[in-house]
Amino acid sequence: MFAAAQLTGSKPEQYAQLAQQARGLLHGERDRIANAANLSALVYHALPALNWVGFYFFDGRELVVGPFQGQPACVRIALDRGVCGAAATSRQTQRVADVNAFPGHIFCDGASRSELVVPLFARGASGNEQLVGVFDLDSPQLDRFDAEDQRGLEALARIWLEASA
Ligand code: SME
Repeated sequence: MFAAAQLTGSKPEQYAQLAQQARGLLHGERDRIANAANLSALVYHALPALNWVGFYFFDGRELVVGPFQGQPACVRIALDRGVCGAAATSRQTQRVADVNAFPGHIFCDGASRSELVVPLFARGASGNEQLVGVFDLDSPQLDRFDAEDQRGLEALARIWLEASA
């Protein structure tokens, strides 16, 4: 049974500990659903002030909800919609301090005030970087995610990609 230790120290130190826990949790498992489920649960319970943590996977046409923690969510998101679509098409992490100020933001949970979405790309059989999906975090707090959160959560997304994609 995996037991997550309490995070301590500065924010970068806490993310380093969380990354270590994530590596341990995903070690030896390549199933992307299993790893997405466990990583979502780990992050949701380890970090404060989150109301949704989870994955959307690209099905070749649009983003489809995958494993997550939080309230039931929108099932499908077109690539030209929302913060998730913006992350997928721009290939850049979207860090949104105020979701009400983001044109086209899709409300899945009315409690969400800020959001961070990390795009997930992996090298396909052709050697090209291909869209796998996005890792999405919502917070009920305005401006919940700073640059250190972004770096820490991008590192967790890479751990998931290395284990599963
Ligand atoms: N807010 C996201 C949609 C997904 S939910 O937050 C879980 C967006 O605008 O893409």
